Amino acid sequence: MSTAKLVLEGKEYEFPVVVGSENEVGIDITSLRAKTGAITLDPGYGNTGSCESAITYIDGERGILRYRGYPIEKIVESGARFIEVAYLLIYGKWPSAEEYASFSKLMTQHSIIHEDMKNFFNHFPPMTHPMAILSAMVASLSGFYPDGDEELNMIRVLAKAKTISAYAYKKSIGEPFVYPKPDLSYPANILHMMFAHPMEDYQVPPVMEEALRMLLILHADHEQNCSTSTVRMVGSSGASLFASISAGVCALWGPLHGGANQEVIQMLERIRDDGGDYKKYVAMAKDKDSDFRLMGFGHRVYKNYDPRARILKEQADKVLELVGVKDPLLDIAKHLEEVALNDDYFIERKLYPNVDFYSGILYKAMGIPTNMFTVMFALGRMPGWIAHWKEMKEDPATRINRPRQIYTGPTEREVPPR
Ligand code: CMC
Repeated sequence: MSTAKLVLEGKEYEFPVVVGSENEVGIDITSLRAKTGAITLDPGYGNTGSCESAITYIDGERGILRYRGYPIEKIVESGARFIEVAYLLIYGKWPSAEEYASFSKLMTQHSIIHEDMKNFFNHFPPMTHPMAILSAMVASLSGFYPDGDEELNMIRVLAKAKTISAYAYKKSIGEPFVYPKPDLSYPANILHMMFAHPMEDYQVPPVMEEALRMLLILHADHEQNCSTSTVRMVGSSGASLFASISAGVCALWGPLHGGANQEVIQMLERIRDDGGDYKKYVAMAKDKDSDFRLMGFGHRVYKNYDPRARILKEQADKVLELVGVKDPLLDIAKHLEEVALNDDYFIERKLYPNVDFYSGILYKAMGIPTNMFTVMFALGRMPGWIAHWKEMKEDPATRINRPRQIYTGPTEREVPPR
């Protein structure tokens, strides 16, 4: 199979077919408009490939997720560090011992933010969502690092995002900022900067560090999702890495994307406060007159159990047991899942729990406040955004992203006399 034929108004056209390394088939319509004058229409881009990419493979029908060919379960099981996975995503291979040492050293050197930047935190109103702060701060890094050193900027944004995020949290609770420690891992540093206090000794609990390592790795990339496509879209105009990632943070913030983890907990709390009648909420989600959706269910790509949700469900049980917390929200979540998975509405539409369904329960058990859940997702996704930005820049096929439209407004008319 090397070409696809299209018949439009009686005329036949041929287009090349591209086959990926996992035999995914794409019809290359680059020449469609030039040849036919027509465009394709695909709202939500469910059928549109925007690029060729060698970073992440998803088979949504079989519930498969691989980074650079490595299955996500195996990466998590291997005990890989988050920054090793970041290196793998960005540079396409596991770091050697030397590469790891130098990458890790750079990450430590660049984890502190410019002292002047701290002033910014003082001027956000107290209720500001930390995703707004993260996005604003990432964009403003361009002012502090105008050298345009793209290789270094990848390290800078990855290293500093966690410090910015922790500072946003400290600011929101009125506590002093805590500097990162060079001897801590990336996940341990996040917890240290969020929970250490000058008046108390704080040791990062190993169980929390491990849970966060796993959470960050599971979120590290997911090919052309809304925020990653945003990063590529913004970057395609020639905008800097900082500007592109700042836009990605904003895209992730939405409740249908990364914001869903916060919404899931709020939904579970609502069900709990309403007497725990989860069946009522399943009925509401099915009711087409209600705009209520079961948050944490469904996915554009997965038409099977999200492999990340499977791992997180097991971990939620483990972590809650280890920290000795019995969270009734976990029970509600499990009941809700069971009812939904056996309901025709969800079966027919292939709606399964997604990554956000159990992650909130884990974050909650770790003491992370609800409005920081999506920030945790953003920190996890940072390597993916960077890897895609880099791949986009290096791809000779990259052009400014500029979709077309089918205009449906009024045809030309007279301006009424003024
Ligand atoms: N609850 C109830 N019905 C749903 C849900 C849900 N969570 N998700 C989809 N549906 C129904 C939808 O109403 C539609 O029904 P019908 O065919 O009768 O009109 C059908 O399933 C297909 O839904 P869609 O909205 O066309 O699917 P989509 O691919 O455009 O949207 C989604 C995918 C993830 C935005 C959607 O499933 C959703 O809103 N889920 C809840 C939010 C959520 O959990 N988001 C996190 C996604 S995973 C992590 C991430 O991306 O950040």
